[in-house]
Amino acid sequence: METVVSGIRPTGNLHLGNYFGAIKNFLKMQEEQNCYFFIADYHSLTTHPTPENLHESVKQVLAEYLAAGIDPEKSTIYIQSDLPEIAELYLLLNMNAYIGELERTTSFKDKIRAQPDNVNAGLLTYPVLMAADIIVHKAKKVPVGKDQEQNLEMTRKFARRFNHIYKVDYFPEPTTFNFGEDLIKIPGLDGSGKMGKSEGNGIFLFEDPASIKKKVMRAVTDSGPSAMNQTVSESVQNLFDIMKQVSTPDTLDFFKEKYASCDIRYGDLKKQLAEDIINFTTPIREKIEDIKANDAYLSKVAQMGAEKARESAVKTIKEVREIIGFRKF
Ligand code: TYM
Repeated sequence: METVVSGIRPTGNLHLGNYFGAIKNFLKMQEEQNCYFFIADYHSLTTHPTPENLHESVKQVLAEYLAAGIDPEKSTIYIQSDLPEIAELYLLLNMNAYIGELERTTSFKDKIRAQPDNVNAGLLTYPVLMAADIIVHKAKKVPVGKDQEQNLEMTRKFARRFNHIYKVDYFPEPTTFNFGEDLIKIPGLDGSGKMGKSEGNGIFLFEDPASIKKKVMRAVTDSGPSAMNQTVSESVQNLFDIMKQVSTPDTLDFFKEKYASCDIRYGDLKKQLAEDIINFTTPIREKIEDIKANDAYLSKVAQMGAEKARESAVKTIKEVREIIGFRKF
């Protein structure tokens, strides 16, 4: 049995990108592997949420995880800040992470562009905290979307470096995982880029059907194919990419053929796509409402998860302290 870790920042509702990039694989893995799934609330402090916002978002995301099918009986679901061991490992790994390599990561460069007035040290060391999240359980597999590839490279680097410095073979080097397939990138509805929480281009699992329909009908397309078998434009390919996840293969083929033969009607494509997204999200949305109203259940899940996750984190920290040389007199 392999150890698997994945996480998500509680900065808004879960969207289709989160589901198809990370959660879907996790659902399959929790049947067979030793799985940990957590809410990365330490990470979300880089954007300075208020205490009320932070608490509400963690609750919302926890309810959404559970509604999406993550099963607290099969995997360990916990809140990152319930594990102080993660903060300790982060501190220890920071001593061997270099400013230059951190400054060069794409996510850091993107973040300083997005929040130029708040370039805090937490943003710079974000990949170190992420490495701590993963290796604190000595995980080998990390089901994530394509956008996390570079963070995983950094995790491997920090794990390898620790082993090298202390001449041990302690931490495994974890890899991204998508059952042998390429990692997923769900595009946004704005014609380019990935679907995100803050980009205003996303469809959320919790979103009501009327709003989903409106967003899909407004999605960016092109002016239509003008020659047979023309290469599909990026904006239309984006809609096909989402369709690939939520619709049947026959539906996708039907619209691809219509495109190739130049008689596609984007209104029809969008109507079908909206309907298939709504069919997919409706049962999840209904469950989110039920679970969110059940505070006792949420608190039981969080407590159970924290206890289970701490067992493995405490063991790792104890061994790491010994390796580093923090020994009793
Ligand atoms: P976050 O919160 O941005 O996203 C959570 C998960 O959703 C995936 N994802 C996507 N996949 C495909 N297409 C998209 N458009 C899309 N948008 C988001 C992400 O790849 C991710 O798997 N740093 C992480 C959270 C984190 C973490 C970890 C993940 C912290 N520590 C340790 C794994 C292991 C993040 O910000 O993800």
